[in-house]
Amino acid sequence: MLTISQYNESADYIRARLQGFQPELLLVLGSGLGGLGDRVEAPIYIPYEDIPHFKKSTAMGHAGRFIAGILGGKQALLMQGRLHVYEGYTMEEVAYPIRVAYLLGVRTLIVTNAAGGVNLSLAGGKLMLIRDYIKFTLDNPLMGPNLPEFGPRFPDMTYVFSKDLRCKFKAVAASLGEAVAEGVYFYMTGPQYETPAEIRAIRALGGDAVGMSTVPEVIAANHCGMDILGVSLVTNMAAGVLDQPLSGQEVIDAANAAGARFQKLMLAFVEAL
Ligand code: HPA
Repeated sequence: MLTISQYNESADYIRARLQGFQPELLLVLGSGLGGLGDRVEAPIYIPYEDIPHFKKSTAMGHAGRFIAGILGGKQALLMQGRLHVYEGYTMEEVAYPIRVAYLLGVRTLIVTNAAGGVNLSLAGGKLMLIRDYIKFTLDNPLMGPNLPEFGPRFPDMTYVFSKDLRCKFKAVAASLGEAVAEGVYFYMTGPQYETPAEIRAIRALGGDAVGMSTVPEVIAANHCGMDILGVSLVTNMAAGVLDQPLSGQEVIDAANAAGARFQKLMLAFVEAL
């Protein structure tokens, strides 16, 4: 169980490195979006391994550092690389950086990921705004004693993903001629991809895309009252949709192929905020 003094020690360390810079939003860069880190002006790099109580990011294609600086005219904090439950971390550990960002004054979270398309209309590298999510796994970042510094014991989950931010994102996407879908993100821990039978079950349950991240961070961010935008890049059709196997390399290649487009759109969105 992590204590409030651990969160505070991490935040104090980062605050000292930021030298008065005050981030207003946190952008978690999933697969394909990592390159947005290069667009930050006056960047300050803080590797996770330098921060007290932080865990290392071990996932394929993920660096492990914060970048603080100006992005699209906004005072931003970026996570280049995130943690996943499949790396052996608890959800509390995965969500840890979100709560530290909250202590630093961040009140808006933009979280991105690569996901498998469950809804057949999501083929071909589509972007999906997350309207809601389903998590049927037992782990949870809020389990254990509640830390009232972050939020209440029983947080409401009715309006997790800000409608206002989704509308803004769609407007910016339309102005760039980009189509964006909207749907339900179904969380699975991985690291194995799903079976075709699981994907049929997920579809029947109302999932549109499936992935192995984002939900732990979102639960913690909603607990502390952040405005949240979630965007999935659909890198592949989920298992069994096509008669072919899935591979991690395919997902990374597809994420990188769509990367420039996704980065341009995200930058325009941050500018419009
Ligand atoms: N399943 C789970 N996670 C994923 C997938 C998938 O098909 N593609 C990218 N992340």
